[in-house]
Amino acid sequence: MKFFVDSADLDQILELNAIGLVDGVTTNPSIIAKSGRDFKDVIAEICKEIKGPVSAEVVSTDSEHMIAEGRELRKIASNVCVKLPLTLDGLKACSTLSREEIPTNVTLCFSPNQALLAAKCGATFISPFIGRLDDISLDGIDLIEDIRTIYDNYGYETEILAASIRNVNHVKDCALIGADVITAPPSVIKSLANHVLTHKGLEAFLKDWKGTGQSIL
Ligand code: G3P
Repeated sequence: MKFFVDSADLDQILELNAIGLVDGVTTNPSIIAKSGRDFKDVIAEICKEIKGPVSAEVVSTDSEHMIAEGRELRKIASNVCVKLPLTLDGLKACSTLSREEIPTNVTLCFSPNQALLAAKCGATFISPFIGRLDDISLDGIDLIEDIRTIYDNYGYETEILAASIRNVNHVKDCALIGADVITAPPSVIKSLANHVLTHKGLEAFLKDWKGTGQSIL
């Protein structure tokens, strides 16, 4: 399973990258706005440090301008992946950019049919939003399962990039289903390592070790 960091905070991205937990980065207009940074500058900085795909989202809503924006964003770095909303215009832009061998990440996916369309349009990644379905009392994980089944039925190569990940159970469930990628905030990725029994067990080991009066170095 690939881990993408859903953030434009370079320090947080680099902290996780140093551990070996970063296979890519995703951003969206809200994340960029929250960063307070120039969009192209922050994407260029991330692309310099992270070799995997870095998603940068278009902000036009018509296919012609989406395509132009996608080509412009792709000029920033060779690992820029153009993020497009799952609309008919976004799908048209996806088809065009995919034919130009520009990687695409079709986002704001909330149904299996939407994911089917994205695969047919050659999307590199599909981003189903788990948390936002949970927010309206639907089960976002069911969507991941349905997309996995549909893609496997037809051998679509579009990678399932599970997004809107809010907690560690989302990650576990995505891994059990076989999502190709999860993208999550740094805090969620870090919390995957936490377990109360690990903390308690380590405390007990070190307490007993201290009693030996020995040292390793
Ligand atoms: O990549 C999509 C993600 O940023 C959306 O997350 O928590 O705003 O639904 P959230």
